[in-house]
Parts: sequence; structure tokens; C-alpha cells
Amino acid sequence: MVAAIEGAFGVNPGQRRNHIKGSCAAGEFVGSKDAARYTRSALFSGKPVPVVARFSLSGGNPKAPDTAKSVRGMALQFKLPGGALHNMAMLNAPIFGAAKPQTFLDLMLALQPDAATGKPDPEKMKAFKASHPDNLAQSEYLAANNPPASYANSSYWGIHTFKFINRKKQTTLVRWRFVPQDGEKRLSDDELKTAGANFLEQALISRAQQGPVRWDMMLTIGVAGDAEDNPTLAWPEDRKQVKAGTLTIKTAMPQKGAACEPINFDPLVMADGVTPTNDPVLQFRSPAYAVSYAKRLGGM
Ligand code: HEM
Repeated sequence: MVAAIEGAFGVNPGQRRNHIKGSCAAGEFVGSKDAARYTRSALFSGKPVPVVARFSLSGGNPKAPDTAKSVRGMALQFKLPGGALHNMAMLNAPIFGAAKPQTFLDLMLALQPDAATGKPDPEKMKAFKASHPDNLAQSEYLAANNPPASYANSSYWGIHTFKFINRKKQTTLVRWRFVPQDGEKRLSDDELKTAGANFLEQALISRAQQGPVRWDMMLTIGVAGDAEDNPTLAWPEDRKQVKAGTLTIKTAMPQKGAACEPINFDPLVMADGVTPTNDPVLQFRSPAYAVSYAKRLGGM
């Protein structure tokens, strides 16, 4: 998988193979009592938990324009009392573009540049789309929703289903998303043409200098029969919503040399009280991130 990502985007030694372009940030998270009914995780103790964050563009091109109609990422690492870590690495779309790792691999293979043109072969992309219907929902979402004007003006979804385990050892299927208190703002079609290639980092740094930037963490409570192992399927909109806490970002900075740069935001690193489902994409992410992480730590 990582070789295919490298084939699609090239190799930038010492850097992430995917979501290479990004910015660091830091702040804290305060969880709610309502969430603590569903999980015993110390994340929801009600006390502030320090957070290192990274905002990013998907793909392995460090020069990808901030207007690209691709997904944006928000990765969070929470440091719990006692030192336990809890990671979340989310996207600004409610669903993923692959039900299985194979679909993502086939997409990376379809994106390999053609030797003659130096660009992906449009015929290969067409064939990929035609043979992978599980990619459709996310493609349609990205076609219908322009990218955000600022990282601070976007929701980010955990996408996968997770299990919350409470003190009575009861398990609840949940999904979560972070909703910006600054509101959702997308670039207009005109702004897409004029916004330039590198505005996201400075917009976030300037916004954080004005004052704390907040997101509400919202939980969706699943019921029996809701998709558990398929990140391309949204849950019905009428599911119970619970406010699980507030994320406050206080500072933002370029990633070079900052705290988020060397972190591996492996989404299977979770503290007691939250466990993964058997979603094959969620399970596959951990080893793929480890390979990318090992390479970049080794200066490769
Ligand atoms: C088969 C599916 C996937 C593969 C192979 C994959 C692969 C990768 C790789 C190799 C990295 C770079 C890791 C590093 O060097 O630290 C990465 C970063 C990232 N991925 Fe994925 N990914 C997949 C699915 C997803 C999904 C479903 C989400 C969101 C729900 C997601 C969100 C992110 C984010 C936010 C980052 C950047 C993390 C950071 O800032 O360090 N990915 N991915």
C-alpha cells in the first residue's frame, strides 16, 4: 500500500507518505458527563486534557494547492493523566472512499503517473470508478462540497464506528464528529479560482492569535443494524446525538520542528474505554501508518 502511495505521489524523504502537507496546533479537550455515561475513558472526566493537533491536506504532494477538491484532515493526540495516549485522525467528510483497503490500493494504482505524460491515465481512473462503487459516495460528497476557507471552518468526522465501554462494561456503538463553533464556511466557486495555493496555514495561525478556536465533539449513538464495518455508509440522520465535549485550539504553527511533526496519529492507539470495530479499513490503517512512520523517522 505504502509503495503504491509513493508511486502515485513520489517520495519526500523524512515526511509523511500521505497527508504530507499540514500544520501543527495545540490546545485542550474537556469531555462531558453525558459522554461519560457511555464510556469510562478518562477523556470524558470533565477535566482539561492536553491535545497536540495536526491539520492537513490528503495525498502525498507537499505542494498540493489548498483549493484542491480533496479531503482535509484533523488529527488529535490526547495525553491523559498517567501518560496514556488517545489518537483520533479524522476527515472533513462524513464517509470514506473505500469500504475495504483494496479499493484504496486500487485508487493509488490508478493514480500512478503515466510514463509518457507524467500524469495519471484518465482511462485508468475511469476504469477504477466503474469497478469500485464503494468510492462513489465520497466522490459525490467532494464534488458537491467545496473545500473549507479555513481549517477552523470545517467539521471533521471520525467516520469509522467505534465501541464505547462504560463502567458497567456495557458497549455502545458510536460515531463522532467535531463541529466548528466558528461555523462551516466553504470556498465559493469564484474563490476556488482566486484563493491561491497556500492560505490554510496562515488562516489558522491568524485565527488562533485572535483567540481560542473551538469545536463541539458530537457523538452519534448507533442502534442494532447500523453499519459497523463499512466506513462508506452513513448512519440514518435521526440517530440520538450527544455533546461529548469541547476541543479548544489555542496556538497553531508550521509543522517543521513543531510537536505534531514526528507523531504517528495511529487511530488504533486508544485509551481504556474506547475500542475499535472490525472495520477492515480502520484495522488496516494502523500498519500502513507504521510503515510510513518508520520510513520518515529513518529519513527515507
Ligand atoms: C486504507 C485506508 C487508508 C490508508 C492506506 C491510509 C494511509 C495513510 C498514511 C500512510 C498516512 C501517513 C501516516 C504517517 O506517516 O504518519 C495517513 C495519514 C492520515 N490519514 Fe489515512 N489512510 C487510510 C484511511 C484513512 C481514513 C479512513 C481516515 C479518516 C477517517 C484517514 C485520515 C488520515 C489523516 C487525518 C492523516 C494525517 C494524520 C497526521 O496528521 O499525521 N485515513 N493515512
